[in-house]
Amino acid sequence: ELSEETVRIVKSTVPVLAERGEDITTCFYQQMFADYPELKNLFNQTNQKAGRQPKALANAVYAAAQHIDDLSAIMPTVMQISEKHRSLNVKPEHYPIVGEYLLLAIKEVLGDAATDDIIEAWGEAYGVIANAFIEVEKQKYKAAASQKGGWKDSREFRVWKKVKESDVITSFYLQPADGRELAAYRPGQYITIKAEIPGENHTHLRQYSLSDSPGNNYYRISVKREDENGGKPAGVVSTYLHTQVGEGDAISISAPAGDFYLDMESVNPVVLISGGVGLTPLISMMKTSTIKDQSRDIYFIHATRNGSVHAFKEDMKQMSQEFPFVKTHIIYDSPMETDCDYDKEGYIDLAWLRRVVPPEADFYYCGPEGFMKTVHRSLIEWDVPVERRNYEFFGPEGSLD
Ligand code: HEM
Repeated sequence: ELSEETVRIVKSTVPVLAERGEDITTCFYQQMFADYPELKNLFNQTNQKAGRQPKALANAVYAAAQHIDDLSAIMPTVMQISEKHRSLNVKPEHYPIVGEYLLLAIKEVLGDAATDDIIEAWGEAYGVIANAFIEVEKQKYKAAASQKGGWKDSREFRVWKKVKESDVITSFYLQPADGRELAAYRPGQYITIKAEIPGENHTHLRQYSLSDSPGNNYYRISVKREDENGGKPAGVVSTYLHTQVGEGDAISISAPAGDFYLDMESVNPVVLISGGVGLTPLISMMKTSTIKDQSRDIYFIHATRNGSVHAFKEDMKQMSQEFPFVKTHIIYDSPMETDCDYDKEGYIDLAWLRRVVPPEADFYYCGPEGFMKTVHRSLIEWDVPVERRNYEFFGPEGSLD
């Protein structure tokens, strides 16, 4: 429905906008939050301060604009982002607001170079992209609400049990306050917590992976307490959960979401590689696989600092003892003198991976940025094809380059 001229203008200006990307997004968020302060309840303000997340949204718009005459090419990305949007409760009426402020920012940053034709073409293109998102998200909200035990926005849960897993990680077992059924989920998916923290000016939304296997009468999340560290402030939500939320307390969460989950149809061996608290979705995958499918070999590789922060140590040990097809490998970069149960000191590298796991496996990896880069590059160097490399970043999408 876009004219050839519009498509031409949009495509030819993408590089210009991408180059000024940071200025545009900074301007965009500043003005949008000034005029719609209630949107601060939706966006992660810690990421805003760190300047990381803001780029993701605008970059995705540019990527879409590059394929504006054939959006099917970016539908997989749209599907993926929509999972996150659905769990955050992004609504159709939000799109025109984002569109308006994105255009304003483009105008302001480009100055005279932003002719009326350019602004008009971008307005039209944004409309087409936004409609693609709105349509996909409509289906997702419908599916979430109509699923057995499912719900659309947020639902009140209660902390049934709080269990310390390591010096920094604590699990919360959550049960629906209405006592009714729970939606199923795929191992690897997450929920979004909507935290109303006393003393805070706005709501805080955060994603946490479900760390247990589906099919129980609770959801379990396992949260790392993010302490203040070298000028980086303590995590608002993780500190709140650790220090102020106890057994019996209420918590609002979204229905499970996310496209990082174990492919249960595949017959390949499974290699699960985690760094630090990135182990939570992978613990769920390992447990689910041992319950539902005992025909695949599972390699569970976990890298963390040392035994004091190593969560689910006993679960890992127990699973590898109980199931001959489960093999665990533990890597500590700074082991303590009291640590004895680990397989490698240092970091993951390709030479070591080659020795301990089969290349024909399906790989799933999750952890902090530096860890992700190492694993990602190693697997590419090993020629593991893209369809067998599944990963999820914790926090805003980092860069693998
Ligand atoms: C996250 C793209 C519209 C709210 C994201 C991410 C991308 C993205 C790429 C990061 C995904 C991830 O972390 O996995 C887009 C595009 C849009 C759009 C291309 C328009 C076509 C909107 C709208 C809203 C919204 C209309 C609501 C006002 C959010 C929020 C996050 C997010 C709250 C989470 C990040 C944070 O909390 O800082 N979006 N988005 N987005 N989006 Fe959108």
